[in-house]
Amino acid sequence: MASLSSFVPVQPPRSAEWVPVWRGLFGERLRNTVYGLPQPLFDIPIRTRKILGFTVHILMDPAAVERVLLGNKANYIRPRIAQRLLSPLVGNGLLSAEGEDWRTQRRIVAPTFAPAAVANMAETMVRCTTDNMARWPGGSAQIDIAAEATDATMAIIANSLFAGDRRLVDPQAARYIEQMLAAAGQARFMTLLGIQDWDPSPVMRRARKSRLWLRKTLSEVVRDRGPDGGGDDFFGGLIRSLGEHYPPEQAAVLAADNAITFYVAGHETTANALAWTMYCLAAQPELQEEVRAEAVAAIAHPAAMRFEQLPLLKQIFEETLRLYPPAPRFDREAEAPDELAGTPIAKGDLVSIWPWIIHRHRTLWDDPDRFDHRRFAPERRAAQHRFQYLPFGGGPRVCVGARFAMMEALLIMAEWLSARRFALPTGFMPDPVGSVTLRPRGGMPLLVSPL
Ligand code: HEM
Repeated sequence: MASLSSFVPVQPPRSAEWVPVWRGLFGERLRNTVYGLPQPLFDIPIRTRKILGFTVHILMDPAAVERVLLGNKANYIRPRIAQRLLSPLVGNGLLSAEGEDWRTQRRIVAPTFAPAAVANMAETMVRCTTDNMARWPGGSAQIDIAAEATDATMAIIANSLFAGDRRLVDPQAARYIEQMLAAAGQARFMTLLGIQDWDPSPVMRRARKSRLWLRKTLSEVVRDRGPDGGGDDFFGGLIRSLGEHYPPEQAAVLAADNAITFYVAGHETTANALAWTMYCLAAQPELQEEVRAEAVAAIAHPAAMRFEQLPLLKQIFEETLRLYPPAPRFDREAEAPDELAGTPIAKGDLVSIWPWIIHRHRTLWDDPDRFDHRRFAPERRAAQHRFQYLPFGGGPRVCVGARFAMMEALLIMAEWLSARRFALPTGFMPDPVGSVTLRPRGGMPLLVSPL
């Protein structure tokens, strides 16, 4: 029988009332975007604030979100301020490009992420997972599942998109990415002030060093491949296609931009989603047993067939993406006046879309903070607004790797669950920290034991 969960997973405290804008520019609120959010945000459709001279509309109404991401999409670009923050790292790659550059790059990469192409990567995904598990202790032990998830997803990205380039599975890379993300809150603030390159604090110095390492390493990968792409893998094809659309120098820079984009966006989000899902399962032993039976049956099938055999695990993963969206917030800038949820929008205004808030909004979800995977049973899903659930964004700029991430996460967890039992250490409570992604501070140590 399906278990009825009363589990309310951990979240940072909210403030009962509105807080002045300046409070968000200091301390924990600056470092952690999901800390201390005012409760009224979870009840209303839109809230407008002035932040350091910018007008920011935080949008919770799904119909208005749909207008921004789809209905009137041409009017809403990635904010110039976010471009300033991102461009030193990902340049003009798919994540930050606009207009024709974006369309060209999206067309180039789209076939790699079509369902049949992703199914062909299933065996690589399973192999990387079992290689990773082979290093786990044989008996019962406390294991940081967030670190293991990073290790496995990094190997998967390196092997399925970059022909297993050893430079991309360097343990140092994970540390550098962590340091960059740790600085994101402070970097956003400095970018708003226009002085991001002048901040001498250790956090920002480490972030700059990490960024330089990533650019240097991925540029070397591009250089070593040469203009013919150096192979038939995703990255080889990307280099050749860019060479057909852009002059050689620009094509080489764009290849490095996209290498960083796919390397970082392609594993960090999924690794966090895995850590949060395993926390939710560790906290609900009965549900874990139920889904283990499904996982054990599924791994009897060839890797490419397993995805369809894991409907319960898929619902559990989707519910975890609701409660812990790995991209807790993303933004747009209005190119021309508009109206959203009854509020006038001026040219240049920022529109902030927070999956973290929308996914826990009290007018959209019944008992929103409670874990209930059955919200994602097909018949209940049909009753939801398409834009009230956006872990992968929406509209034409929806995450290009969504199918890849889903397949990867389910295959990894099927391996984990069919070999090990996961429990919460006594007294342990994870601590969600939001920056560009939503990470568990200090990792996700779980008690892992053989079946
Ligand atoms: C659970 C895992 C993932 C989550 C939650 C996630 C989330 C998102 C979101 C919310 C966006 C849209 C941001 C916006 O509209 O401003 C996005 C875009 C993107 N994601 Fe993902 N992502 C995940 C996995 C992946 C993977 C595995 C890849 C690549 C292999 C990837 C590559 C990208 C790229 C390149 C974009 C930019 C697409 C464009 O602008 O056309 N993501 N992702």
